[in-house]
Amino acid sequence: MGRAVLVLHGPNLDRLGTREPAVYGTATLPEIDASLVRLGEALGVGVTTLQTNHEGVAIDRIWAAADAGVDGLLVNAGGWTHTSVALRDALAGCGRPFVEVHLSNVAAREPFRHASLLAPVAAGVVTGFGAASYELGLRGLCAVLDRRADA
Ligand code: DQA
Repeated sequence: MGRAVLVLHGPNLDRLGTREPAVYGTATLPEIDASLVRLGEALGVGVTTLQTNHEGVAIDRIWAAADAGVDGLLVNAGGWTHTSVALRDALAGCGRPFVEVHLSNVAAREPFRHASLLAPVAAGVVTGFGAASYELGLRGLCAVLDRRADA
């Protein structure tokens, strides 16, 4: 059976394309999701995507995905990255590796974006490459899963 990856997009990312395009680019979320499904097909990974503006929904989905046997997660938690202990606890506790991604280079932005509560429990972080951050993140996650399978 092929691998399964959940792509989780947090708050306000449903507005990509028109939300601060100078910061986040012009690609829409459906375009990004479609490119990840296509890349997943090329890499032999089944990609499921979810965007939510509700933290509890994201947390429920993480645990449900783990219960259903998901292999790993690709997470752009948006603003929750910098605030959510609860999201970090779910990601750390579900026992699946995840890669944190950001369209913008958060390190080059306001100081409150420099800290990530998720990064210390992530397998890796990709930030600053626009929509390509997601594709690079999916490739990185697949490399992590390959490494674990070999170990
Ligand atoms: C973001 C960066 C976050 O700081 C911000 O709150 C977002 C998007 C990014 O993809 O660059 O909503 O995660």
